[in-house]
Amino acid sequence: MAKDKIHYVCTECGGTSPKWLGKCPHCAAWNTLVESALQAPEAGKNRYAAGLALAPASPLSALADIEASEVARSPTGIDELDRALGGGMVEGGVLLIGGDPGIGKSTLLLQALDGMQRRFDARLSAAGPPQGAKAPSGGRELHEMSDRGGTLYVTGEESAAQVAARARRLGLDGSRVQVLAETGLEKIIATLSASQPQIAVIDSIQTLYSEQLTSAPGSVAQVRECAAHLTRLAKSSGIAIVLVGHVTKEGALAGPRVLEHMVDTVLYFEGDTHSAFRLVRAVKNRYGAVNEIGVFAMTERGLKGVSNPSAIFLSQHSAPAPGSCVMVTLEGTRPLLVEIQALVDSGGPSPRRLSVGLERDRLAMLLAVLHRHAAISCADQDVFVNAVGGVQISEPAADLAVLLAIYSSLRGKALPKGFVAFGEVGLAGEVRPAPRGQERLKEAAKLGFGVAVVPQANAPKNPGGKDFEGLTIHAVERVEQAIELVRGLT
Ligand SMILES: Nc1ncnc2c1ncn2[C@@H]1O[C@H](COP(=O)(O)OP(=O)(O)O)[C@@H](O)[C@H]1O
Ligand SMILES: [Mg+2]
Repeated sequence: MAKDKIHYVCTECGGTSPKWLGKCPHCAAWNTLVESALQAPEAGKNRYAAGLALAPASPLSALADIEASEVARSPTGIDELDRALGGGMVEGGVLLIGGDPGIGKSTLLLQALDGMQRRFDARLSAAGPPQGAKAPSGGRELHEMSDRGGTLYVTGEESAAQVAARARRLGLDGSRVQVLAETGLEKIIATLSASQPQIAVIDSIQTLYSEQLTSAPGSVAQVRECAAHLTRLAKSSGIAIVLVGHVTKEGALAGPRVLEHMVDTVLYFEGDTHSAFRLVRAVKNRYGAVNEIGVFAMTERGLKGVSNPSAIFLSQHSAPAPGSCVMVTLEGTRPLLVEIQALVDSGGPSPRRLSVGLERDRLAMLLAVLHRHAAISCADQDVFVNAVGGVQISEPAADLAVLLAIYSSLRGKALPKGFVAFGEVGLAGEVRPAPRGQERLKEAAKLGFGVAVVPQANAPKNPGGKDFEGLTIHAVERVEQAIELVRGLT
């Protein structure tokens, strides 16, 4: 039936072709045509022309005349998740939650749904203010989502029995969350439209398939098509939909990245599956701040929020080790102390530069700055850098700590005990300020750090103040100055 409506769309230029080709006939890119069930552009054009003649135009209104209503939100009851979401789930909002397999996506969402279901049931029975509803950490005023059906967990990866077993293990006894084990998109949409839950989790988008397409589940075409239909449903019905997406080995391809532009909010799980700590970071949010993070610890009974996480990404050395420098990162609202490790080792004819949790291009740039402005060369050395604990640091304020860790490893000398540094490094060798430097310094002082090297512009006016007690603050303007200072300290 619908199969004849299929055409192929280039993911690069948007050009279409009636049959699959290895090379796009429009932009000559290879392997970019994916199946699509959308209307062919010809049909679209005709409808557009007809529409011009027949359909009445939509009314226009001035911005000032439009009522600016707060969006209706429901906190999930998991503070750290609500913090990353900017207050809770939004009615009709589509949330994409991505991460490596096994990192805890299903666990977190099951816990969140159970929390929402319990609040929902409590509201129904009490018909008063919801029981156990804590104000979310965002602190903003909340408007509850309208009272509709409860919560629905659609599982395409595990059987309903497996989900039930997980719920028992997590201690969610007597959970009233509805479960549907289904992978057919059309059936899921029919069920959602009929039952009208407040929120539905689709675990995972890569297991869904639409009968409209012939591609296999998990292919770019299926993932995009299914997500587009579900997004449309969310907008028209007001159901909040959560899509779970695995980050695939190929990275961008058919993974959550291809969906980022379609959804309202994107959260990514970060962290090392071997360690207990997990970060949930908002990388896109139409209803809140980006880069806000929620911190969790994986326990036997599921994910537990860590409300005071600043020291969890420090490895516990008994004595300072060469190649290690602690930085204070501040993405979102909370400062985190993260240890940056570097290893500089004699390399072969083409030395390697590798970074985990930090940008590799930035590492190459920092090595060039170190050479040019501080006359320290790593040209014949392998350089590895790592942010401890599986954290991803994208802010340039890590630069100074990376440079000093590299310098420390190269010399084989540890930085002083309780040493912390942050600041952006420019190509001209200047050290630029990091946003909200004082807050970073306060956190370092609070955790008992003793020496800080920071950009001049971040140096506090009252370095002897109570907030910075015990912390000796050295302000630097240039890279060579920072290196000189560290040489003197060690
Ligand atoms: N039966 C179990 N007993 C103990 N821990 C488990 C069990 N099943 C899963 N886990 C833990 O929960 C973690 C997260 O699993 P899960 O939420 O299914 O991840 P995802 O949905 O992101 O793939 C796993 O890495 C594992 O450490
Ligand atoms: Mg899962």
